[in-house]
Amino acid sequence: MAGFLLAAIMILLGSSSSSSSSSSGSSAVLEPLFQYIHGHQNEFVQRLGEWVAIQSDSSDPAMWREVKRLLNVTAQKIQEMGGRVEFADVGTQQLASGETVALPPVLLADFERDARKPTLCIYGHVDVQPAKKEDGWVTDPYNLTEVNGNLYGRGATDNKGPVLAWLHAVEAYQATKQELPVNLKFIIEGMEETGSDGLEELTRQRNESFFSDVDYIVISDNVWVSRRPALTYGTRGSTYFFVEVKGVNQDLHSGVWGGCYQEPMSDLIALLDSLIDHSGKILVPGLNEAVAPLTEEERKLYENIHFDVEEVKKEMGINHFLQDTKEGILMARWRYPSLSIHGIEGAFSDPGSKTVIPRRVIGKFSIRQVPNMEPAVVERQVKEHLQQVFTKRKSPNSLAVTTTVGAKPWVADLKDPQYVAGRKAVKAGLRNFIVTIIINLLISVFISTTK
Ligand SMILES: *[C@@H]1O[C@H](CO)[C@@H](O)[C@H](O)[C@H]1NC(C)=O
Ligand SMILES: *[C@@H]1O[C@H](CO)[C@@H](O)[C@H](O)[C@H]1NC(C)=O
Ligand SMILES: *[C@@H]1O[C@H](CO)[C@@H](O)[C@H](O)[C@H]1NC(C)=O
Ligand SMILES: [Zn+2]
Repeated sequence: MAGFLLAAIMILLGSSSSSSSSSSGSSAVLEPLFQYIHGHQNEFVQRLGEWVAIQSDSSDPAMWREVKRLLNVTAQKIQEMGGRVEFADVGTQQLASGETVALPPVLLADFERDARKPTLCIYGHVDVQPAKKEDGWVTDPYNLTEVNGNLYGRGATDNKGPVLAWLHAVEAYQATKQELPVNLKFIIEGMEETGSDGLEELTRQRNESFFSDVDYIVISDNVWVSRRPALTYGTRGSTYFFVEVKGVNQDLHSGVWGGCYQEPMSDLIALLDSLIDHSGKILVPGLNEAVAPLTEEERKLYENIHFDVEEVKKEMGINHFLQDTKEGILMARWRYPSLSIHGIEGAFSDPGSKTVIPRRVIGKFSIRQVPNMEPAVVERQVKEHLQQVFTKRKSPNSLAVTTTVGAKPWVADLKDPQYVAGRKAVKAGLRNFIVTIIINLLISVFISTTK
């Protein structure tokens, strides 16, 4: 908790380096802030506990009331600190039952503006994924619990803790009568865990109003690669593929019909198998050629990243990675494309030995994409490749390939002032911590299951 909070404060300070007005970074500002934080540590953790206790599970429309309740609580906290809030309507969703319900609104907030200061907009979300004790939680997921100096609770890191850290950072500035070095805006939603319905449309609609004066957006909603603090400077994009192979009109019995016709499942297995080899290489022609070449500067970045391969192997029960080095593994996860096969709809997957021949199967896989791959180009390459493999099989069945989601990859410039501020923030926060007795709280907020 305090780790986030200190980092938040340092980012605020760092962001002001371009404005001339404040004594940015000086210990005259920092000392009282740090003292305030240390003095209010218990209160901050208690508030996080109150937030975690609100079961804001966005995957279940029946729980959206709780999502809205927490958005209200968030808005109230911002208002108490002098911020202006607005609940932006993002439309409705039709449920499986046919009923149409209003989505939880998106909370937009801002504070008094000083034209001389840069404006920072902070994104966060207050919803969570479902969590039940039976899922493997050692403690009650909605009861924030400290175990060996770590705090466990659903949403504690993702994303309630970070959102609260920002609010507490503002509180610390105000309580110690320090001038905030930046203008602040917040965009807080309650549907992140189910795909942020309506958010993109809202940001488009407000591009010339709410977002028009925003210089930087900060997203503090990601995991660290190790127990060391980390800044995310890019994420891979993703396209999801559905490969449908259709044969006869009904499922058939292998004892009666097996052997006399081409089964859709064999076609599908061949198609899926043509996508990737045993070394993890994607076999779709042309796809790897778009990948931005690795620069020397970028290669060096990976050398300093802390990632204990042996420890991770043990933790995950993996005895062999496809790459031999730490750098190789991380690059495979972050800066090269990957292809994962997720499932086959229509396949027999229950226990036991049913002798069915499925009439229609849909293979599902996705490709994680990196700069400079274009989702539309990838889609075309994959479709052409699958069609070619299928044609070679001279199958009488029909093939249809469709896609959803075409999130583009992005990578940020590490020399951007915001990253420079972020780096400074993490380092200073860390230093300050190490000299205080709450060192054990440094890495305090963890959830015991990942989303
Ligand atoms: C949230 O606050 C609004 C008023 O701002 C109120 O109408 C609504 O009932 C509240 N929702 C919940 C779930 O508390
Ligand atoms: C939360 O857990 C603590 C023990 O860790 C227990 O004393 C407390 O009653 C629990 N609270 C709720 C609301 O279940
Ligand atoms: C905002 O969106 C409108 C409509 O899509 C577009 O015409 C305009 O160029 C956008 N403005 C900015 C600042 O991006
Ligand atoms: Zn999140």
